[in-house]
Amino acid sequence: MAGEVLQLRGVGVRRGRSNLLRDVTWTVNEGDRWVIVGPNGAGKTTLLQIAAAMMHPTEGTAVLLEERLGRTDVFELRPRIGLASSSLAAEVPPEEKVIDLVLTASYAILGRWREEYDSTDVDRAVALLDALGCADLVRRTFGTLSEGERKRVQIARAMMPDPELLLLDEPAAGLDLGGREDLVTRLAALADDPAAPTMALVTHHVEEVPEGFTHALLLRGGEVVTQGKVDEVFTAEHLSATFGLPLAVDRQNGRWYARSTR
Ligand SMILES: Nc1ncnc2c1ncn2[C@@H]1O[C@H](COP(=O)(O)OP(=O)(O)OP(=O)(O)O)[C@@H](O)[C@H]1O
Ligand SMILES: [Mg+2]
Repeated sequence: MAGEVLQLRGVGVRRGRSNLLRDVTWTVNEGDRWVIVGPNGAGKTTLLQIAAAMMHPTEGTAVLLEERLGRTDVFELRPRIGLASSSLAAEVPPEEKVIDLVLTASYAILGRWREEYDSTDVDRAVALLDALGCADLVRRTFGTLSEGERKRVQIARAMMPDPELLLLDEPAAGLDLGGREDLVTRLAALADDPAAPTMALVTHHVEEVPEGFTHALLLRGGEVVTQGKVDEVFTAEHLSATFGLPLAVDRQNGRWYARSTR
């Protein structure tokens, strides 16, 4: 499929009197690597929920993989989109085996329900775990994994059905410095792989943006501050407005750094 993977027009999400998102217009083209950055409560997870066909907008239109939300069967759409988020991880039973968690993604369900899988599926699951540096966790249960190990296993799971769009909600949250750097490096390799799916990654920290991510969208209070090519978006002015404090922003060797100038 060429062209637009996701197109939101004037999207709003209201809950009672709160506007979780307001007038969001966003287009993701095939092959793009987006980062969504904003403070706590900005609406990032809400935006990803819409992009994952897990939530419908209250206003505006959302077209995912050429299917319009509200006019399509989301159960057919969801397996085409990979999502890794801590709220999904919280639903995983602790006794679930890592290999099964990755394998069952093909069916977009939690919990193993078939006794037999094709060996090609098993090979693919093991290869994905290996690519994320967790080949040795294959036989472990999810409940015994560290936070960083869980994050990586979730990404492998999200990639298992070979999605056309991969959505990662704070993949580096809770990782130590080594774990974060390792994950950022692996995500940079993924960003660089032309065969990898179109991606959108949510983070609070520009330091966690892997090299090779092409576009950025800044959110604050449910509204888009600015969006576009990453080097045009990640300026001191834009990031200061997004986080509501004066920031200095640097770039070194393809990575970004921000600090308060107060
Ligand atoms: N059902 C709801 N009713 C009212 N407010 C809600 C509801 N669900 C979420 N919110 C609010 O919407 C806002 C946006 O939430 P969201 O989870 O999208 O933010 P976020 O940018 O992902 O934040 P964080 O960085 O903390 O994960 C938050 O202020 C949240 O409290
Ligand atoms: Mg969130």
